[in-house]
Amino acid sequence: MAQALSLGLLLAFLAIQSCIAIELTDHIDLWPMPTSVSHGTQRLYVSKDITMSMEGSTYPDEKGILKDAFQRLKFGVDESYNLSVPTAGYPLRVQIEAQTVFGALHALQDQMRLHADTSRHYLPVTVIKKVIDTMAYSKLNVLHWHIVDAQSFPIEIPSYPKLWNGSYSFSERYTTSDAVDIVRYAENRGVNVMAEIDVPGHALSWGVGYPSLWPSDSCKEPLDVSNNFTFGVIDGILSDFSKVFKFKFVHLGGDEVNTSCWTATPHIKKWLDDNQMNVSDAYRYFVLRSQKLAISHGYDVINWEETFNNFGDKLDRRTVVHNWLGEDVAPKVVAAGLRCIVSNQDKWYLDHLDATWEGFYTNEPLKGIDDPEQQSLVIGGENNNENFENTE
Ligand SMILES: *[C@@H]1O[C@H](CO)[C@@H](O)[C@H](O)[C@H]1NC(C)=O
Ligand SMILES: *[C@@H]1O[C@H](CO)[C@@H](O)[C@H](O)[C@H]1NC(C)=O
Ligand SMILES: *[C@@H]1O[C@H](CO)[C@@H](O)[C@H](O)[C@H]1NC(C)=O
Ligand SMILES: *[C@@H]1O[C@H](CO)[C@@H](O)[C@H](O)[C@H]1NC(C)=O
Ligand SMILES: *[C@@H]1O[C@H](CO)[C@@H](O)[C@H](O)[C@H]1NC(C)=O
Repeated sequence: MAQALSLGLLLAFLAIQSCIAIELTDHIDLWPMPTSVSHGTQRLYVSKDITMSMEGSTYPDEKGILKDAFQRLKFGVDESYNLSVPTAGYPLRVQIEAQTVFGALHALQDQMRLHADTSRHYLPVTVIKKVIDTMAYSKLNVLHWHIVDAQSFPIEIPSYPKLWNGSYSFSERYTTSDAVDIVRYAENRGVNVMAEIDVPGHALSWGVGYPSLWPSDSCKEPLDVSNNFTFGVIDGILSDFSKVFKFKFVHLGGDEVNTSCWTATPHIKKWLDDNQMNVSDAYRYFVLRSQKLAISHGYDVINWEETFNNFGDKLDRRTVVHNWLGEDVAPKVVAAGLRCIVSNQDKWYLDHLDATWEGFYTNEPLKGIDDPEQQSLVIGGENNNENFENTE
């Protein structure tokens, strides 16, 4: 958004007031929790004759708003809004105040992320678009697209055209133009797309097209740390991504790395010895070298929390640490001055069927973080669903 806007969007609609008083308590079940809320006692219905009008806008006309709405949604855009509903008037005029069109959009949809995994289960483009629609209704504003993993590599990478040989089948693939289409569709609905490649641990499918990425034909994970080609491929993927996924962040995974193939494979064992590294050193080397590649393509990096737990002080200072294991890591991450995304699996993983809705709503990402400066380093929460199809 080039200029700061004062966008006063007035929504006028006919509302029928019912006589039923709503039972009220001090506790309001809203999520995400607004900065402040006050409420009345009447139930209102939105009329089918809803109309909208605009006031105090710096736009010359509605076309200007639409033009902005189709501009790229950037990280850090003011998405806040005030929504007030008067108690009397006919028709009732509901007022939305927002600084940008994206704030108004969220108000109409009365920040959160959603994780979709297309490696374990391929999702057709039309289904991803439906997910994005649903996100917009729920005010989720970042789609974490876990595109590739050990199981399949469904996306086209022009720099390394054999990578998608690792897809389940020819029809279970995304072309570059599919990805561009998805990103554009999401942005028009106020949703950013954050892509993930999970290295070095969750990348077995990469070696279907390029077997030298595997330590050996019998030991296929993690990616071969001793092979310079491995980093050439990561560089190529991130270079191609940077032309499609323009969001500020890319996710580089880094979780669940089982290094036993590295010591079991003679040429890698020799490389470790030659470079005086043990497997923990090599894991850190892999993550940090991949971070540098992502940064060289203009990205800020997100890594799963194991990277922080193992060598937090070595991570690039712009790293965002993505929590998933439990709830005690976020306070440590922000105390170390790094940013954090909270999605502890016991509360916010949608495929954890034992996680209750009550726990989901009351989960507090800022738990244990009292310093406002540290609180501001918690840049989001995320709902994860590793098994998307099961909950459709
Ligand atoms: C919402 O109202 C508050 C208090 O009047 C004001 O400070 C804030 O700037 C408003 N926000 C927007 C997005 O208009
Ligand atoms: C990759 O797929 C192409 C066809 O798309 C095929 O010609 C090639 O042999 C495959 N390579 C490997 C290593 O599977
Ligand atoms: C390793 O690959 C990088 C590109 O990723 C290249 O710049 C560098 O020269 C290569 N080094 C060796 C030793 O091959
Ligand atoms: C690590 O991988 C090796 C070889 O693939 C396997 O035997 C071992 O059980 C794995 N360890 C863990 C903790 O999963
Ligand atoms: C690897 O070496 C470092 C010291 O360089 C040591 O702190 C660490 O415990 C070692 N890790 C393993 C798994 O041996």
